[in-house]
Amino acid sequence: MCEVMRGIVAFDSVYGNTMRVAEAIADELRGQGHEIELIDLGRKVPRGMEADFAFIGSPTRNGKMTSRAKSFVKRLDADHWSARPIVAFDTVMHLPEDPRQRDRMVRWTENGAAPRIKALVEERGMQAYPEVLRVEVTGLKGPLLPGSLDRSREFARKFAAELK
Ligand SMILES: Cc1cc2nc3c(=O)[nH]c(=O)nc-3n(C[C@H](O)[C@H](O)[C@H](O)COP(=O)(O)O)c2cc1C
Repeated sequence: MCEVMRGIVAFDSVYGNTMRVAEAIADELRGQGHEIELIDLGRKVPRGMEADFAFIGSPTRNGKMTSRAKSFVKRLDADHWSARPIVAFDTVMHLPEDPRQRDRMVRWTENGAAPRIKALVEERGMQAYPEVLRVEVTGLKGPLLPGSLDRSREFARKFAAELK
């Protein structure tokens, strides 16, 4: 097993779906032996968040991340995070199977919160993990699609396996 690292899992969530994804990621990483601080951006955010890695998640709303997620990324110490991975994740609505409806709606999901978090991290000269985790919800408010939490755990496990 690799050495124990300190990580942050920060999330914003309106209906609780992104929170459940964040909890699953945090739980998986703790299970791998890491020390994880779970941060709800809807509450008071602690200062001086310096860890070895971070996950940052937000629901996709109107094709974007929430303003709380955005200000969190903007406040991170760019020097500290220039050499430590930041992983973006989001929740998005599940698109209909019908290709015509799908084509019409895809613009709402393709450029959502996670790709924007990753882009903002990179724009600020910080180190973005190349892959983003995107998790689908049914309808506009959820719940998460079946298997979503298992997939989130698997993603976290893969990330942890690459940590040195
Ligand atoms: C006002 C509003 C706007 C939304 N806009 C989008 C959108 O642009 N793209 C998308 O995929 N989902 C959109 N959704 C669905 C959200 O992604 C969904 O509510 C979210 O994943 C739930 O996460 P939460 O439970 O953590 O808040 C929207 C939902 C609401 C209520």
